[in-house]
Amino acid sequence: MAVSIKSQREIELMREAGRILCITHQELEKAIRPGMTTMEVDRIGEEIIRSYGCTPSFKNYEGYPASICVSVNDEVVHGIPNANHILRDGDIVSLDAGVIYKGYHSDAARTVAVGEISEAAQRLIDVTRQSFYEGIRYAKPGYHIRDIGKAIQKYVESHGYSVVRDLVGHGIGNHLHEDPEIPNFTTLKRGVKLQPGMTLAIEPMVNEGTQDVWWMDDDWTVVTADGLLSAHYENTVLITEGEPELLSLPEDLKDV
Ligand code: MF3
Ligand code: CO
Repeated sequence: MAVSIKSQREIELMREAGRILCITHQELEKAIRPGMTTMEVDRIGEEIIRSYGCTPSFKNYEGYPASICVSVNDEVVHGIPNANHILRDGDIVSLDAGVIYKGYHSDAARTVAVGEISEAAQRLIDVTRQSFYEGIRYAKPGYHIRDIGKAIQKYVESHGYSVVRDLVGHGIGNHLHEDPEIPNFTTLKRGVKLQPGMTLAIEPMVNEGTQDVWWMDDDWTVVTADGLLSAHYENTVLITEGEPELLSLPEDLKDV
């Protein structure tokens, strides 16, 4: 299917969705502390999203039961919030959230520390975030989708980590998932050529050990096959004539 090019109006709505999502992530990160349950994280996140008059994109999406995906340690993505799962000092937690503003989606994820974490865990988080920035050096007109994933993979593997193959990024707009798929690794086909007005959710998932993952019996939670740590970093990105615009990380909120 063709990749949609967003109009100026659509971009404005996605900017607003992204801004609210960015604030949601900043508030969530501040709220995270040892002793809290993953269910509380979901409740706080949902309250923030709704306080801006937005709807959580993930709630009931293909039956997903919560607003925020909360994935702890070896959980890669799509962890289901649970009132019995208590966050402990030293855990890392991947928070993935989506908001809908006037029909338009924004999708972003960050892995954050619970209390004091090991140097190894911090390094995994930092490399995962930086791999996103390595990838978006190619999120410009003239490059192809594959250039993004190739750069992400190269950076991640040069640090001794692996990139998950079973899940990919995606186009986004008035649906959470649109074409094209955006692998975080190189592929046989180069994929579509990037054009201004495309909006993409670029989301490297990086494992400390093997790239292999398993699905838990809840049919959602994805975990590393070897039980080692995993981290996730995602933003909704607008392709422009020049540098990409991070819709879910507006310039003026970057250092807040
Ligand atoms: N960022 C994830 C994705 O793009 C979030 C989807 S979670 C779901 O797939 F619950 F909505 F499925
Ligand atoms: Co996504």
